[in-house]
Amino acid sequence: MATERNGADGMSAVRRAWLRELGVERLWNLPGAAAPAAAPELAPAAEVPVAPPQSPVRESVATVPAVEPERAEPVALVQEIPMQELPAPAAMPADPEQAWAALQDEVRDCVACGLCKGRTQTVFGTGSPKARWLLVGEAPGEQEDKQGAPFVGRSGKLLDSMLASIARSRQHDVFIANVIKCRPPGNRDPLPEEVARCSPYLMRQISLINPEMILVLGRFAAQTLLETDARIGSLRGKVHSLSVAGRKVPVVVSYHPAYLLRSPAEKVKAWQDLQLALSVGRPGN
Ligand code: URA
Repeated sequence: MATERNGADGMSAVRRAWLRELGVERLWNLPGAAAPAAAPELAPAAEVPVAPPQSPVRESVATVPAVEPERAEPVALVQEIPMQELPAPAAMPADPEQAWAALQDEVRDCVACGLCKGRTQTVFGTGSPKARWLLVGEAPGEQEDKQGAPFVGRSGKLLDSMLASIARSRQHDVFIANVIKCRPPGNRDPLPEEVARCSPYLMRQISLINPEMILVLGRFAAQTLLETDARIGSLRGKVHSLSVAGRKVPVVVSYHPAYLLRSPAEKVKAWQDLQLALSVGRPGN
């Protein structure tokens, strides 16, 4: 967290620099920033009642009026989708810390699909398992495979900037994981079989972390987690709901940082997504 003194606008120079890098400084109408643009209003979430889940199910429920101005009407979307099988509860230690350690060991030694052959190491995730926010990306890339941590390359630096723009850090305030724990060769899209083998680990991470909110980064993770073919543009701006181990966890979808690096004009939308996520639950421990 920045320790330097705040400027006249109440914001530290570090935070202002992060916001400038994100391209969202103007949304706060900071003195000296580019022409001010009206930040879209975020309306509070209005719960849409969902039929009681038939166990086991996952639901994707859009409950919040769209952030983007062109989508003025609240959108309600309810899907019931069979959930990836969770391991039998008996297989997991009852103590959460032991269960977390056991899961780490299982992931480290996993040979459930062919990706294990090409990996340097698995990438379990990073941050505090007690964090209130869980961030979910796609799969490790080259750097992540080498270092054993998610989002450590260029897109990870942007992700750190995004967190800093809301005065949060990966070390203290969030847990970051991927759908897939091993690097796909050449960074290709993971195959359905690999997703089927690996996503139960993510489901167990979710049920152990028990986050207040999941922020999903990118099309692949969003479509996998919500089990939909919908385009990311239509998944953004809503609060979905994922039912994991009997609890409904709100899910907000945003763009993948690698996409934002290629399309910096979209950073404003990522900023809106962060605001929506903050309206659902504060990160932290
Ligand atoms: N992209 C991802 O989706 N995850 C990572 O860990 C790194 C890049």
